[in-house]
Amino acid sequence: MASNYTEVFQDPTAVEKYAERTYAPGTFSSIVSGRQTGWLRGFVPSAFQTPPVHHDFACGTGRVSRMLAGLVAASHGYDTSEAMLAKGRELGTPGHAHLVGPGSAIPQTVPGRPALVTAFRFVLNVDAGLRDQLMDFASMALPDADAGFLLVENHGNASSLRHLRKTFGRLDTSTWFQELSHQEMTDLFDRHGYELAGMQGFTLFTQGCYRKPWTGAAKAVDGALASPFSKWATDVVYIARRR
Ligand SMILES: C[S@@+](CC[C@H](N)C(=O)[O-])C[C@H]1O[C@@H](n2cnc3c(N)ncnc32)[C@H](O)[C@@H]1O
Repeated sequence: MASNYTEVFQDPTAVEKYAERTYAPGTFSSIVSGRQTGWLRGFVPSAFQTPPVHHDFACGTGRVSRMLAGLVAASHGYDTSEAMLAKGRELGTPGHAHLVGPGSAIPQTVPGRPALVTAFRFVLNVDAGLRDQLMDFASMALPDADAGFLLVENHGNASSLRHLRKTFGRLDTSTWFQELSHQEMTDLFDRHGYELAGMQGFTLFTQGCYRKPWTGAAKAVDGALASPFSKWATDVVYIARRR
């Protein structure tokens, strides 16, 4: 885990790498992101009777707001990195981007409107204090069970193929390798007064399995099986609501 996680994304080089390399068209991350888009665009109209106000914690370049374009009443992204938000503007992210200090984001709620809080690619590589910042933020937007939903991505599920890398692979200290188990995620939700309403998996395979010549086969298997075998997916989104 990077002890200076929040600082890492202040660096324009890290931002360029994230937006232009990690999410370049055809990469593993962009394929997974495409699947998340399809699922989210089905989830929101079925979970909400009226379009919610979207609050994206640690929004970065606004990937989730772009996925939800046109489906929400308003979209707000909150992030500590001006460089990430600037990249988001360049990418045409809809809605309002808020530059916030660590632990000081306040959701811009609208009375009478449900809320959808999202936190993608955040919980895995941060410490417990930053996870609590997210949950405290979510609880301001979601005061009770009828207020809406919280969606949290874990892109390093410990009950997945990815775990083999920890067991058998070489872990290079220059790259982060964290895992989060279902138990750790449910404990986090439980401790903050949330119950799990579901989980959705987006890939059973790891980035390495998407290299040529395996890309086509990995895509086909994931397309068919990642959803029914969500519990064992390397990338999972948890759906939670207040108890
Ligand atoms: C890996 S990026 C994920 C961005 C986006 N959610 C996505 O899925 O593409 C992590 C983001 O967390 C932001 N971040 C780090 N610490 C934060 C904090 N304490 N509060 C809010 N955002 C934070 C970083 O600036 C960065 O944009």
